[in-house]
Amino acid sequence: MNKLFFLATLFFAVGCTVSKKADLTSGLTKDDVNRVQDLYADVTLEELNKGMSLYEANCDACHKLKDPKSEGIKGWNHHVPEMVELSNEKKGTKLTKSDEQAILRYLVSMNRK
Ligand code: HEC
Repeated sequence: MNKLFFLATLFFAVGCTVSKKADLTSGLTKDDVNRVQDLYADVTLEELNKGMSLYEANCDACHKLKDPKSEGIKGWNHHVPEMVELSNEKKGTKLTKSDEQAILRYLVSMNRK
Protein backbone atom coordinates (compact mmCIF):
# COMPACT_ATOMS: atom_id res chain seq x y z
CA MET A 1 0.00 0.00 0.00
CA ASN A 2 2.76 2.39 0.96
CA LYS A 3 4.61 1.52 -2.19
CA LEU A 4 1.55 2.32 -4.27
CA PHE A 5 1.21 5.69 -2.61
CA PHE A 6 4.84 6.41 -3.29
CA LEU A 7 4.45 5.49 -6.96
CA ALA A 8 1.36 7.65 -7.32
CA THR A 9 3.20 10.62 -5.81
CA LEU A 10 6.13 10.03 -8.11
CA PHE A 11 3.95 9.97 -11.21
CA PHE A 12 2.19 13.12 -10.07
CA ALA A 13 5.52 14.90 -9.56
CA VAL A 14 6.87 13.82 -12.93
CA GLY A 15 3.63 14.90 -14.59
CA CYS A 16 3.93 18.39 -13.07
CA THR A 17 7.54 18.77 -14.15
CA VAL A 18 6.72 17.79 -17.72
CA SER A 19 3.78 20.19 -18.00
CA LYS A 20 5.87 23.05 -16.57
CA LYS A 21 8.49 22.49 -19.25
CA ALA A 22 5.83 22.53 -21.95
CA ASP A 23 4.55 25.88 -20.63
CA LEU A 24 8.00 27.41 -20.85
CA THR A 25 8.58 26.52 -24.47
CA SER A 26 5.16 27.60 -25.63
CA GLY A 27 5.08 30.95 -23.81
CA LEU A 28 4.10 33.00 -26.85
CA THR A 29 0.81 32.70 -28.68
CA LYS A 30 -0.79 33.54 -32.02
CA ASP A 31 -1.77 36.92 -30.51
CA ASP A 32 1.89 37.84 -30.28
CA VAL A 33 2.26 37.02 -33.97
CA ASN A 34 -0.88 38.92 -34.98
CA ARG A 35 0.39 42.09 -33.33
CA VAL A 36 3.29 42.43 -35.76
CA GLN A 37 1.88 40.84 -38.90
CA ASP A 38 1.23 44.27 -40.44
CA LEU A 39 4.98 45.00 -40.21
CA TYR A 40 6.38 41.54 -40.98
CA ALA A 41 4.10 39.61 -43.33
CA ASP A 42 6.14 36.39 -43.00
CA VAL A 43 6.50 36.38 -39.19
CA THR A 44 5.78 33.05 -37.44
CA LEU A 45 5.30 31.87 -33.88
CA GLU A 46 8.51 29.84 -34.22
CA GLU A 47 10.43 32.96 -35.16
CA LEU A 48 9.10 34.91 -32.17
CA ASN A 49 9.93 32.01 -29.83
CA LYS A 50 13.42 31.92 -31.28
CA GLY A 51 13.71 35.70 -30.82
CA MET A 52 12.65 35.41 -27.18
CA SER A 53 15.17 32.63 -26.43
CA LEU A 54 18.00 34.48 -28.15
CA TYR A 55 17.11 37.72 -26.43
CA GLU A 56 17.06 36.11 -22.98
CA ALA A 57 20.24 34.13 -23.64
CA ASN A 58 22.38 36.90 -25.14
CA CYS A 59 21.16 40.34 -24.21
CA ASP A 60 21.92 40.34 -20.49
CA ALA A 61 25.66 39.75 -20.82
CA CYS A 62 26.56 43.43 -20.24
CA HIS A 63 23.45 44.97 -18.72
CA LYS A 64 20.08 43.74 -17.46
CA LEU A 65 17.52 42.78 -20.08
CA LYS A 66 15.90 45.99 -21.29
CA ASP A 67 12.13 46.32 -21.03
CA PRO A 68 10.63 45.97 -24.54
CA LYS A 69 8.62 49.10 -23.71
CA SER A 70 11.78 51.09 -23.00
CA GLU A 71 12.31 51.71 -26.72
CA GLY A 72 9.88 52.49 -29.53
CA ILE A 73 9.96 50.60 -32.81
CA LYS A 74 12.42 53.15 -34.18
CA GLY A 75 14.65 52.62 -31.17
CA TRP A 76 14.64 48.83 -31.54
CA ASN A 77 15.33 49.09 -35.28
CA HIS A 78 18.37 51.10 -34.38
CA HIS A 79 19.62 49.33 -31.24
CA VAL A 80 19.12 45.64 -32.10
CA PRO A 81 21.59 45.55 -35.05
CA GLU A 82 24.04 47.68 -33.07
CA MET A 83 23.81 45.42 -29.98
CA VAL A 84 23.98 42.18 -31.98
CA GLU A 85 27.18 43.42 -33.57
CA LEU A 86 28.56 44.45 -30.17
CA SER A 87 27.68 41.06 -28.69
CA ASN A 88 29.39 39.17 -31.55
CA GLU A 89 32.42 41.41 -31.27
CA LYS A 90 32.84 41.53 -27.49
CA LYS A 91 31.18 38.36 -26.25
CA GLY A 92 32.07 36.00 -29.07
CA THR A 93 28.45 35.14 -29.85
CA LYS A 94 27.68 34.12 -33.42
CA LEU A 95 24.33 35.78 -33.93
CA THR A 96 23.28 35.83 -37.59
CA LYS A 97 21.12 38.26 -39.55
CA SER A 98 18.16 35.93 -39.13
CA ASP A 99 18.80 35.77 -35.35
CA GLU A 100 18.90 39.57 -35.32
CA GLN A 101 15.60 39.70 -37.19
CA ALA A 102 13.97 37.27 -34.74
CA ILE A 103 15.13 39.31 -31.72
CA LEU A 104 13.87 42.53 -33.30
CA ARG A 105 10.48 41.09 -34.19
CA TYR A 106 10.08 39.62 -30.70
CA LEU A 107 10.90 42.96 -29.05
CA VAL A 108 8.54 44.91 -31.30
CA SER A 109 5.74 42.44 -30.59
CA MET A 110 6.31 42.79 -26.83
CA ASN A 111 6.53 46.55 -27.22
CA ARG A 112 3.03 46.60 -28.70
CA LYS A 113 1.56 44.31 -26.05
C1 HEC B 1 29.02 43.52 -25.17
C2 HEC B 1 28.10 44.07 -24.20
C3 HEC B 1 26.65 44.20 -24.60
C4 HEC B 1 25.80 43.21 -25.04
C5 HEC B 1 26.09 41.74 -25.26
C6 HEC B 1 24.51 43.86 -25.26
N1 HEC B 1 24.57 45.18 -24.92
FE1 HEC B 1 23.06 46.52 -25.00
N2 HEC B 1 24.28 47.97 -24.29
C7 HEC B 1 25.62 47.81 -23.97
C8 HEC B 1 26.15 49.07 -23.46
C9 HEC B 1 27.59 49.30 -22.99
C10 HEC B 1 25.07 49.99 -23.48
C11 HEC B 1 25.06 51.45 -23.02
C12 HEC B 1 24.91 51.52 -21.53
C13 HEC B 1 23.58 51.03 -21.02
O1 HEC B 1 22.52 51.56 -21.45
O2 HEC B 1 23.55 50.10 -20.18
C14 HEC B 1 23.93 49.27 -23.99
C15 HEC B 1 22.67 49.80 -24.16
C16 HEC B 1 21.56 49.17 -24.64
C17 HEC B 1 20.28 49.78 -24.84
C18 HEC B 1 19.91 51.21 -24.48
C19 HEC B 1 20.32 52.08 -25.61
C20 HEC B 1 20.49 53.50 -25.20
O3 HEC B 1 19.56 54.28 -25.42
O4 HEC B 1 21.55 53.79 -24.61
C21 HEC B 1 19.46 48.83 -25.37
C22 HEC B 1 18.01 49.02 -25.78
C23 HEC B 1 20.25 47.62 -25.50
N3 HEC B 1 21.51 47.85 -25.02
C24 HEC B 1 19.76 46.43 -25.99
C25 HEC B 1 20.52 45.27 -26.12
C26 HEC B 1 20.04 44.06 -26.78
C27 HEC B 1 18.68 43.87 -27.39
C28 HEC B 1 21.07 43.16 -26.70
C29 HEC B 1 21.10 41.75 -27.28
C30 HEC B 1 21.10 41.65 -28.73
C31 HEC B 1 22.18 43.80 -26.02
N4 HEC B 1 21.81 45.08 -25.70
C32 HEC B 1 23.40 43.20 -25.75
C33 HEC B 1 26.35 46.66 -24.11
C34 HEC B 1 25.85 45.43 -24.52
